[in-house]
Amino acid sequence: MAKLTIKDITPAFGAEISGLEPKVPLDAETCAQLRTLFDERSLLVFRDVDIDVQFQTYLSNMLIGDDASVPDDLPIMKDFYVSNEKPKSAAPFGRLMYHSDSQWAKNWCYALSLYGEKVEQPSAPTMFVSSIVGWDTLPEHLRKRAEGHFVIHQHDPETYQKRAAGDPNVLLNDLKASEDSDPQPIVLTHPRTGRKLLYISQQMTRNVEGMSEQESDELLGLLFDHLYDKNKEMAHHWREGDLVVWDNIALQHARPNVQSEGPARTLRKTIAPPPKVGAVKSLNYSKVGAAA
Ligand SMILES: [Fe+2]
Repeated sequence: MAKLTIKDITPAFGAEISGLEPKVPLDAETCAQLRTLFDERSLLVFRDVDIDVQFQTYLSNMLIGDDASVPDDLPIMKDFYVSNEKPKSAAPFGRLMYHSDSQWAKNWCYALSLYGEKVEQPSAPTMFVSSIVGWDTLPEHLRKRAEGHFVIHQHDPETYQKRAAGDPNVLLNDLKASEDSDPQPIVLTHPRTGRKLLYISQQMTRNVEGMSEQESDELLGLLFDHLYDKNKEMAHHWREGDLVVWDNIALQHARPNVQSEGPARTLRKTIAPPPKVGAVKSLNYSKVGAAA
């Protein structure tokens, strides 16, 4: 077993790891160490690693507890990129506000990963905040106001664009809930770690159920001010060969503006557990071992 060197990135979350030898599967001791670290720190960074999509998928699924000895049946999402230069990529340009992927959906994404395949400088960072820290540090009077309430999350790309174009703290309540929107508790218990967290986001949360628009806006505004305090943010500045894996329930991510004509920024993405085949349009799927 290779000895891993671990360095905290911020006091509250994030760990940079060196010394990992990427292979499928990893030995049991390394898996156990990385899983524990992932649950404690919510985000792992590996720099200067040369990995394929199979390893990236395997690692992400292993970290959320899926059987590490897998992976014959593990679906691989090929050609899934966040990129301003590759055709048919996700989020090719623009700014993204803080959110957890699929926050509006019935089936959650537990872990996300991005791998720096082509990164020209200066490159827009990916920003992170911890929803667990958001809850842990929330003043008592706001805890009392938030607990027991449910919110509706919005899955509407137009909403994202409108919000991202203006003041990030402006709440838009004039849009209809999509079919996929489902009430979710503001204070969520993490399904794996049991830790409480604020499961609301500036990009996706539309309103608090059972409150007037004014009440809902006021409460969400106060919670967002707390969650997105600049002192609680972490920026990951991309280089080629960076692998970042994070807990999509515990953390939220965002990014400043990316220009379509700007420096190449091509990040290969995986979702764990993998969505059902066909659930995400324009992706190619294959099985581990079969993908080139
Ligand atoms: Fe996202």
